Amino acid sequence: MPPTAIRGPFLHLIDDPFYRPISDCLRYLPDGLMVVENGIIVEIGPYAELKNRYAQLPLTHYPNKIIVPGFIDTHVHFPQTEIIAAYGEQLLTWLDRYIFPTEQKFSDRAYALTVAEHFLDELLRHGTTTALVFTSVYPQSTDAFFEAAQARNLRMIAGKVLMDRHAPEALLDTPDTAYSDSRQLIEKWHQQDRLLYAVTPRFAITSTPEQLRAAGRLLQDFPDVYMHTHLSENTAEIAWTNELFPEAGSYLGVYDQAGLLGKRSVFAHGVHLSETELCRLSECECAIAHCPTSNLFLGSGLFPLHQAKNPDRPVKVALGTDVGAGTSFSLLRTGGEAYKVAQLQQQSLDPFQALFLATLGGAQALCLEDKIGSFIPGKEADFIVLDPQATPTLAFRNQPYLSVLNPALNSALNSELSEADADDRSHQGDIANERQMADLRSLIFSLFILGDERAIHATHIAGMLV
Ligand code: GUN
Ligand code: ZN
Repeated sequence: MPPTAIRGPFLHLIDDPFYRPISDCLRYLPDGLMVVENGIIVEIGPYAELKNRYAQLPLTHYPNKIIVPGFIDTHVHFPQTEIIAAYGEQLLTWLDRYIFPTEQKFSDRAYALTVAEHFLDELLRHGTTTALVFTSVYPQSTDAFFEAAQARNLRMIAGKVLMDRHAPEALLDTPDTAYSDSRQLIEKWHQQDRLLYAVTPRFAITSTPEQLRAAGRLLQDFPDVYMHTHLSENTAEIAWTNELFPEAGSYLGVYDQAGLLGKRSVFAHGVHLSETELCRLSECECAIAHCPTSNLFLGSGLFPLHQAKNPDRPVKVALGTDVGAGTSFSLLRTGGEAYKVAQLQQQSLDPFQALFLATLGGAQALCLEDKIGSFIPGKEADFIVLDPQATPTLAFRNQPYLSVLNPALNSALNSELSEADADDRSHQGDIANERQMADLRSLIFSLFILGDERAIHATHIAGMLV
């Protein structure tokens, strides 16, 4: 692929704003140029400084937009795409009534492929460029998903679901087939192009202790694959889990005793965790996928984000849509609901913290921060273009703040700095002044609260407009 250049306002985070001052973490280039070659960012900096060197490259210009890293959805179920918005139940009855019947359709590989294509269309339309994905118990559904993602050159992580009890017979595997089918899928797909594999026990209730141990063996035999499951989502689920595993001491203990905790382990929900469990997640460098639209939809509870992010025992947290319990593929909507869930707990989620959760935070949760999540040369050029005027309401509301996107009205140089310092800082994309930060914060907040797929002006995968 020949090199290309993208010009416009670039905004990204280079560190965790829950643990460091936001101004140290945020980078903004009001008029930037990013050069992409073979899908990789080779250079990014002020347009004025780089334009002469790259004058011959084909240029895509996004004036009055905000270019951010592609969104990362750290927990979603592709077979549940068609059952989104299923009425009237909480977790366990919702699974029995809606989800288990639907997932049985995915024994048909052709059907699974059709749904996978629709699902990926939707992710890209909503600005999601990487996801950690539950497929179904049928290995052919996992094959179908990887095939569809590979054809689009996407960075995706997925796995076959393991479940050998407490579900309809047609959906059950065994500890042995869980191991052998997963092993085959890992050998076929893990590290092929941009694809990665996750060992995926559904949750403690639907796996016997033998099957959880088989999952642990897979992680030992393939130390660089992921582990993806549900944890502590709903109080009835937790009570049943404690009955099934009385010796484990806690819900997390069930997974711990099977050897499922590690730095590539991602637990969806974690709404009702004890401080002891949070300490153990921190110790093992595990991540939590915060799924606010799902937790509200199923009435599961309010995830204590600020408690989870306690800097004394840091836990990686990112966002998950959890479609079909989640109610939108949009990480803008998901971040907006995360804000409201924090409000209900007398906390506020800064818009730049929400942007972190949807981008670099997701990359860190997936141990992919060397590849995606921010605009650093050497990383993969998956990015999206946000439109702060996407709807009449957004356009009207945002009128006072749009000058921060206009290079002519928005000098990146802070007059209090010496000229050399200012040059250096604007080259790095440091925030120039309080006003710039306040205007950007307001624009980003409006996108989380009012935005959805309509605000995704464009999605680029490995530099290419898709
Ligand atoms: N726990 C076990 N399976 C599921 C699922 O499919 N969705 C959600 N939200 N929670 C689960
Ligand atoms: Zn889920």
